[in-house]
Amino acid sequence: MTIIDTPEAMRAWSFEQRALGKTIGLVPTMGALHEGHASLMRAASRGNDLAVLSIFVNPTQFAPHEDFNQYPRTFDADSRIAEATGASVIYAPRASTMYPERYSTYVIVEDVSQGLCGGSRPHFFRGVATVVTKLFNAVLPHRAYFGQKDAQQCAVIKRMTRDLDMDIEIVEMPIVREPDGLAMSSRNAYLSAEERARALCLSRSLFEARESIEAGERDAHTLVAQVRAGMADVQVDYVELVDGETMQPLERIAGTVLVAIAAWAGKTRLIDNIKFEV
Ligand code: PAJ
Repeated sequence: MTIIDTPEAMRAWSFEQRALGKTIGLVPTMGALHEGHASLMRAASRGNDLAVLSIFVNPTQFAPHEDFNQYPRTFDADSRIAEATGASVIYAPRASTMYPERYSTYVIVEDVSQGLCGGSRPHFFRGVATVVTKLFNAVLPHRAYFGQKDAQQCAVIKRMTRDLDMDIEIVEMPIVREPDGLAMSSRNAYLSAEERARALCLSRSLFEARESIEAGERDAHTLVAQVRAGMADVQVDYVELVDGETMQPLERIAGTVLVAIAAWAGKTRLIDNIKFEV
């Protein structure tokens, strides 16, 4: 497995593979890999001739008060997972390469990045859309794999590739959970045992919402209130019921529906969601 750290070298590799007729799948990550990332990697390896894993803790998607410095960096363990899941290349650029002095250009996706995480973290999707564009320009993938765990991020990337005529297929993969329901996340490493136990109320209240919808509940306000009531063990950031593609709030449950939640367990912000076709 090859490790590449500049966009020039990454593009040279990709041009060469494309000239040989090979397809390339990209999995963008910030490292600290877990089984959720591994499921994306396996899908990229299966669905393409070659899979590239990118690892880059992207400073522009963190606000100054957020956990950029603290974010777990576990490159050696990540390389072993990359190897085991069939990566041909790890693309791991340096921050100074990605954002040289006087860096000035950002990608802003309007509409779909408002609300939900865009409401609580106003800087966030500008940083994500910008870095993903830069990763796409370096790796030149045919397909890129994202997790439904970050459902609004998927919607933002899909809108961006459509709007900017990027010829890349965006593949959205299901949420991988711990056996007790907690959605896997690199940030789960921050949780104390007591916080982790409290964090279980996120998935539990989403599963209860699914049961209510299956039992016929169609009123968004009732469902939101029910989910909120189930989250007494954590500090709720938001609970919203939105259209799964546009991320616009829904009154009645119909079509592709996303129940999206964010909450704090101690100092750790966690997100989770559940999607339905009604
Ligand atoms: P990161 O949090 O490392 O996540 C990388 C990818 O793994 C994302 O597409 C995310 O949705 C997916 N993922 C995380 N946890 C998952 C789970 N439990 N099940 C399935 N997929 C999961 O998301 C980012 O990095 C960054 O914002 C990035 C897109 C790399 C841009 O910097």
